[in-house]
Amino acid sequence: MTNAGTPIEIRDLYKIFGPAAKAHVAAVRAGMSKEELSARHGHILGLNNINISMPAGKIQVVMGLSGSGKSTLIRHINRLIEPTSGSIMIAGRDVLSMSELDLREFRRTGTAMVFQRFALLPHRTVIDNVTFGLEVRAVDKAKSRDTAMRWIERVGLKGFENRYPTELSGGMQQRVGLARALSNDSAILLMDEAYSALDPLIRTDMQTMLLELQQELNKTIVFITHDLDEALRLGDQIVILRDGSIIQQGSSQDILLRPADDYIERFVKDVNRGRFIRVDALMESPDGRTTIGLPVLKSGTTLEVAGKELADALADAAVVADGSGRPLGVVDLRRILAAL
Ligand SMILES: Nc1ncnc2c1ncn2[C@@H]1O[C@H](COP(=O)(O)OP(=O)(O)OP(=O)(O)O)[C@@H](O)[C@H]1O
Ligand SMILES: [Mg+2]
Repeated sequence: MTNAGTPIEIRDLYKIFGPAAKAHVAAVRAGMSKEELSARHGHILGLNNINISMPAGKIQVVMGLSGSGKSTLIRHINRLIEPTSGSIMIAGRDVLSMSELDLREFRRTGTAMVFQRFALLPHRTVIDNVTFGLEVRAVDKAKSRDTAMRWIERVGLKGFENRYPTELSGGMQQRVGLARALSNDSAILLMDEAYSALDPLIRTDMQTMLLELQQELNKTIVFITHDLDEALRLGDQIVILRDGSIIQQGSSQDILLRPADDYIERFVKDVNRGRFIRVDALMESPDGRTTIGLPVLKSGTTLEVAGKELADALADAAVVADGSGRPLGVVDLRRILAAL
């Protein structure tokens, strides 16, 4: 019914801003820093040797401070920005070798964007905003209204379809933006700081909705944020950028338990680890241990919940089991406390 996600492969990607960008790639490759490139040559290093394999149907988070290159990176995926060097393959297709026509088609049907400032058309109602992309694609009017209504319902806006954007709260406007993107049914969703303008509680609601929708849609979602909690909650994979370079990439567990350097350590220092680290990351082989009588924790249980369950059971270790009850490992209280 819906288009599932496609993989995105980014290889050896460099982006230098300035009139003689290509002339400086070799120097950057050889180690010239962003600062030096700017001071000596007046060029800006946007992206430096980016390699990311974004798997199909997963949420790839891109995180980093302001100016680290997040927007520059996401805009390469639908080639709103031309790379200085490197390649971008989508489902095995080279975005850089697409003709003008193919590229236009790919932008319109292969990807959809959700923006921080919603980018709704103020003189169109909710439903007319949602059908806009379909109209551009000359989809039959009745059919696009059906599709739009379906997504308006799915994002919780049924009854608001004839309202205007200014009559809606920020959270509701962002839902309209999401409905518009989803009605496009593209395999890839590009979300650049989509939730950053929302109040914290609304933001959490939007994250929950995205995770729920994703369970059934399996789009490839590239989600940019500068918020670590949001990154850890949403990201199947996370890359952290600084000055245009990748400092670390991996799962939330990798980043929390094995921060690559001091910079990442400072980033993760204040996060509530109990809420994000899962027992799976700490468990040991059950071999040679008595597991009889130990409480059982489901794979994926967070340390926060695990600690509470162990305390309730007056146990100092538990078996971690998969959905069908098969034991995967053993985790003990000492390890849990050490990780917290
Ligand atoms: N068109 C441009 N010309 C020159 N420099 C640019 C251009 N676009 C971006 N840059 C520079 O490239 C770097 C990365 O910018 P980018 O907008 O990708 O950062 P960001 O991580 O999205 O930041 P923010 O969190 O503020 O949105 C910055 O140093 C920025 O000044
Ligand atoms: Mg940005």
